[in-house]
Amino acid sequence: MIVPGSNSQALAAALAAETGESLAAVSYEQFPDGERMASVPGVDERVDRAVVVASTTTDGAHVELLQLQDAAREAGANEVVTVLPYMGYGRQERAFEAGQPVSARAVARAISTGTDRVILVTPHEASVTDFFDVPCAIVEAAPRLARPLPADLTDPLFLSPDEGAIDLAESVRDTYGRGDVDYFEKVRHSGTEVEIMPSDAAVDGRDVVVADDIVATGSTMSESIGVLNDRDAAGVYVTCVHPLFARNARTKLERAGVTDIYATDTIERDVTAVSVAPVIADAL
Ligand code: R5P
Repeated sequence: MIVPGSNSQALAAALAAETGESLAAVSYEQFPDGERMASVPGVDERVDRAVVVASTTTDGAHVELLQLQDAAREAGANEVVTVLPYMGYGRQERAFEAGQPVSARAVARAISTGTDRVILVTPHEASVTDFFDVPCAIVEAAPRLARPLPADLTDPLFLSPDEGAIDLAESVRDTYGRGDVDYFEKVRHSGTEVEIMPSDAAVDGRDVVVADDIVATGSTMSESIGVLNDRDAAGVYVTCVHPLFARNARTKLERAGVTDIYATDTIERDVTAVSVAPVIADAL
């Protein structure tokens, strides 16, 4: 049985189709004090395994996930598997100053209490798997990102906006089948301000695919797109695993002159162009 979180309904349906498992009907209630309850009513078949699929993009989604895990157990599931297509708080994987929480560890501990194992899709830091008290596996979405790209890119260059994402850019290039790989250097000045130091890669007249794990505020991508357009790239395509698109991120990319944007369904947005369901199914 696949149990969808409210932010992951399309992915859960794709996973149900991929695995042949049933898709649970989740119902929602809200009480007068504002508390909410997500439940899994009407499970009459014997459920051996429940796979809760829930991206925790909001604090409410975290609570909903804990409720769905508990509801799945109450419905009689012998095994509860938790799939976090996007793990909220995953970028707070360390305390940056004394007195700060390691938020990724705090949420991982809470999630561990309701599940037998966890699957993460391309977390920002692989080290977050250590924070779970149950087995935690990673599946990589990067190879899926090549699928929606136009087949006729001109002399393509696959570029990561910082050194940390170069493996991802390489993986997209390898699956696409041709092209060069390079990376920019990035300095982050604040949550919304980044400075991009371009490499000397020749981009004039070429199609450039900028690949990253997350687009959050869009600062990293919009700066990169601006540099590439200033250097007369033929087209600048953005591809990412997790299209968080906080605040005005989409507008920033459009104003910077992006040619097209592609992302997976770990977070369901209008730029979602490919599903990660097959790679999750392989890990189940
Ligand atoms: C950071 O290292 C990540 O890979 C992304 O580059 C970052 O999360 C993007 O954030 P933003 O869209 O806010 O620039």
